[in-house]
Amino acid sequence: MNLQQFTFRPATLDDEPALLHIDIRASEDVDRRTGRVDPKTPEMTSQAIDAIWARLANFIRFLHENGVTWLAEANGAPVAYARVAAWGHARQLTEAMVLPGYQDQGLGAALLERTFGSRALQTGELRVIRANATLQAVGLYSRFGVSPVAMEYSYTVDPDAVAPVALALAQSSDLKLQPLDQDHLDAVAEIDRAVLGFDRRILHEFWLRDGRQALALMRGNRLEGYCYYSPGFGPATCRQAADLPATVAVGLLERLKGGTRPIRIAGQSGTPHLWRALQPAGPRITGLVALMASDTLPGLDRYVLSDPDYTL
Ligand SMILES: CC(C)(COP(=O)(O)OP(=O)(O)OC[C@H]1O[C@@H](n2cnc3c(N)ncnc32)[C@H](O)[C@@H]1OP(=O)(O)O)[C@@H](O)C(=O)NCCC(=O)NCCS
Repeated sequence: MNLQQFTFRPATLDDEPALLHIDIRASEDVDRRTGRVDPKTPEMTSQAIDAIWARLANFIRFLHENGVTWLAEANGAPVAYARVAAWGHARQLTEAMVLPGYQDQGLGAALLERTFGSRALQTGELRVIRANATLQAVGLYSRFGVSPVAMEYSYTVDPDAVAPVALALAQSSDLKLQPLDQDHLDAVAEIDRAVLGFDRRILHEFWLRDGRQALALMRGNRLEGYCYYSPGFGPATCRQAADLPATVAVGLLERLKGGTRPIRIAGQSGTPHLWRALQPAGPRITGLVALMASDTLPGLDRYVLSDPDYTL
């Protein structure tokens, strides 16, 4: 393995559009190799990547500012990067991407050492990763103090089929609804600590500032759960596992007001009751990711993951 032909350096904000390009090319390649898409599917055009950049730029800048991002260059152009974002005592590897022609040469490992491996585990930090379910990714990450704790399944539901199911689930619940806003964030942080084991108030503050929409689910004056529904569905979580189907259902009903496109829910193996509750709508499983962590995630049975899927 000869890494001397590459230059490693911390990424700047100006590098970010090129890094998104690497993210998309590496993800397209893995989708083809693992059989998720037809190998003859054409590559995404540069214009389509620019449109994704326009949609995600604020969020990517937020991740950049709250994390550590390193890249590797060959002949002056970035070919690989990794990013670790931090909230509370948790650090999440949000992206590790190597352009297809440069994989299996040690770049991924070298970038992880610079971003994820730099601090000793005894600082009490929690490490988390949503890993592509390939041996390449899971094999590499398992050397960095994390192991798989659950599988993430993307469920896709069709609006017409899910509307009556969501309505019945919502009507069977005693929870009252409000728009989620900054005033709820102390209670949100408390729920996140119970469910995920860490506080990520900073991330919620960003999402709400950035115009993401979410519902607060109340029992009396107490926040029992929350559900983001636009743009992207999730995260959604609640104090009690029994409330998760209704929490998701009220978010689905809000989402349905905004259009008739199929809705993707990033569910996971820890929430079988949610899967069962959605059965009458005929959900399809359309994606697979490995959730890896350095410790147990205590309340995954009360949690639906975030979409877009950069964060837990
Ligand atoms: C996953 C990825 C970041 C790894 O980076 P990489 O530069 O290809 O990996 P490295 O060459 O540093 O490999 C490091 C280790 O990974 C493991 N690994 C790499 N390729 C592997 C394979 N084909 N099978 C099993 N393990 C493998 C090995 O443990 C390897 O160690 P070794 O070199 O001592 O054998 C990169 O391949 C990639 O971008 N893949 C496509 C996009 C993706 O899946 N990103 C991860 C998103 S979570």
